[in-house]
Amino acid sequence: EMLEKGGYDHFMMKEIYEQPRSIRDCMRGRIYPKTGKVQLGGIKEYTEKLKNIDRIIIVACGTSWHAGLVGEYLIEEYARIPVEVEYASEFRYRNPIITEKDLVIAISQSGETADTMAAIELAKEKGATIFGVCNVVGASIPRVSHAGVYTHAGPEIGVASTKAFTAQVTALTLIAFYAAQQRGAITQSKLIEYLTELNEIPDLVERALLCNDHVKEIAAAIKDTNNCLFLGRGSSFPVALEGALKLKEISYIHAEGYPAAEMKHGPIALIDEEMPVVFIATKNSSYEKVVSNIQEVKARKGKVIAIVSEGDVDVKNMADYVIEIPQTNEAFVPLIATIPLQLLAYHIAVMRGCNVDQPRNLAKSVTVE
Ligand code: G6P
Repeated sequence: EMLEKGGYDHFMMKEIYEQPRSIRDCMRGRIYPKTGKVQLGGIKEYTEKLKNIDRIIIVACGTSWHAGLVGEYLIEEYARIPVEVEYASEFRYRNPIITEKDLVIAISQSGETADTMAAIELAKEKGATIFGVCNVVGASIPRVSHAGVYTHAGPEIGVASTKAFTAQVTALTLIAFYAAQQRGAITQSKLIEYLTELNEIPDLVERALLCNDHVKEIAAAIKDTNNCLFLGRGSSFPVALEGALKLKEISYIHAEGYPAAEMKHGPIALIDEEMPVVFIATKNSSYEKVVSNIQEVKARKGKVIAIVSEGDVDVKNMADYVIEIPQTNEAFVPLIATIPLQLLAYHIAVMRGCNVDQPRNLAKSVTVE
């Protein structure tokens, strides 16, 4: 087993460190930065359909649902198609309004989740087109979908999803740019610019992993907390949700993710010197606003851990701990900002003596309702 873990103590750590490669594998043969082209063989036959749909509904569960929320942001921003993201378990029991003009994207690492399968079947009956975004090749969901994009992250053993999540986000990024290109929602020069940056993401993820020792120190400082809040805005809001989910799954610490601006409508009441608050505060359009949220937490003596862009000074002066990550285009921040949050959850769980690869009560894939 030690061999299978590639020298790491746990599969989860091995899989966290595989991310530069798994993201690269997901993009391989699909993006052409020099010419500004995206090619997705698995959905090619449905290109005409993609040009004519009115709406996209993303269905998923757990971490895959968080990837869906990042996908919503990317698809709306670049392809300008309205997107709704639904928990598969809620969607299927709601008598949802679905037509032939809808595209349903089902996201699932295992490709076997019962609720997601049932949501697909319902949408199919109502005439929607189904794309699967799955990791396990040949699983049930890819088989029942009309078309799809495999994430190619390789087998994921740790129950808490890490590399499958970043590969899902990568695949959704490709779908967003492909749809944008086909529907004429993006200029060729912009696409060249974005794809060039996207192509560099695996290297930036590699650099982000260098924060590991520092994250371990932060983990040691906050490991005894009973609660933890994660805040972010825009596409970093789903990153906050995912950071909170990772922590709660493997360390059993109660954690919540919230859009930073919603803090004042509830979570702010929880903040005292005992409460660690993790902010995703990278340099992009909502930076100033997140900085003022950090000030609000500090004014109430909360402990601030901030994920910031390299070279940041403002947040550094306010936060108790900062974790620097490489600067990238706003569209790609989730792929980088997720890394330190995975490491934080991992180290805290290990320090608390938890079974990180097989947390209590959780299953890798949930094939019953
Ligand atoms: C389980 C796993 C999660 C996963 C979710 C959805 O709860 O523990 O890690 O995100 O199922 O699984 P799927 O295979 O559909 O992505």
